[in-house]
Amino acid sequence: MIIIDKEKCTGCGACVRDCLNKTLAIREGKAEYIRDCFKCMHCIAVCPEDAVSVNDPDNSMEEIFPIDESCHVDADRMLRFIKSRRTIRHFQNRPVEKEKINMLLDAGRFSPTGSNSQNVSYIVIREQRDEFNALAMKEFRSLKSPDRFSLVFPPPFDLSRIDFEDDEFLFKGADTIILAVCPSDVNAAIAAANMELTANGMGLGMLYVGFFIRLVNVTKPLKKYLGLSEEDHVAVAMGFGYPDVKYYRTVPRKPAKVTWL
Ligand SMILES: Cc1cc2nc3c(=O)[nH]c(=O)nc-3n(C[C@H](O)[C@H](O)[C@H](O)COP(=O)(O)O)c2cc1C
Repeated sequence: MIIIDKEKCTGCGACVRDCLNKTLAIREGKAEYIRDCFKCMHCIAVCPEDAVSVNDPDNSMEEIFPIDESCHVDADRMLRFIKSRRTIRHFQNRPVEKEKINMLLDAGRFSPTGSNSQNVSYIVIREQRDEFNALAMKEFRSLKSPDRFSLVFPPPFDLSRIDFEDDEFLFKGADTIILAVCPSDVNAAIAAANMELTANGMGLGMLYVGFFIRLVNVTKPLKKYLGLSEEDHVAVAMGFGYPDVKYYRTVPRKPAKVTWL
């Protein structure tokens, strides 16, 4: 339930203008909440008088903070940060602190989702990481024959390039594995991208594990181990850890394919 503090509300209409659902209206000079909505919370963010709040145990007002200079990131700096990001495939044998994992989860949680569904859930595999990796590799190795392999990994995947002997083929020694479970690949991918950049900002590196995604969504034992149903969709698999590699420069990229209309 969205609550308008009528004492504070000046009737400026900023919340009405920014409301996607026509949930708010100005009546007798004050904003009024007139119908239920999907709670994007823009009305809270846009009110210059701090007159809007929500009373919902799932959406705590406690974590709100004012937007000031400290929230600003210069675009040139941001682009350099994005360009210097690299997929990490060599990790130190060093645990990722729980506080840092919580910050990664926060980066995911505050990412946008279609209709503000906030429907990405996370599985953090830390203490059971080696046991889980062993099971994943067992399932992966069961695809060793060309017929089975091509069912899960169609061309251009090339069986001859896979090192089935490498126990860390999938997760490359990453300390913490986080799976984003979501019916929407887009919602999960946006969360993952923000998590990766946040990880980089904390000195951590990240690996997207696409091989695991194909595997987990077709093999029953892995979903069972994770406590997922067959219908659950694991959208993104991420390995996090302290990098054991240093990159000295950025990489070239193809020009963007752009149609200007
Ligand atoms: C969806 C997705 C799945 C990926 N899966 C794997 C993977 O299973 N193993 C791996 O070593 N790298 C994986 N990568 C990393 C890509 O190979 C890497 O992003 C690409 O080569 C460009 O390198 P960069 O990320 O350092 O710019 C994946 C990347 C994405 C976006």
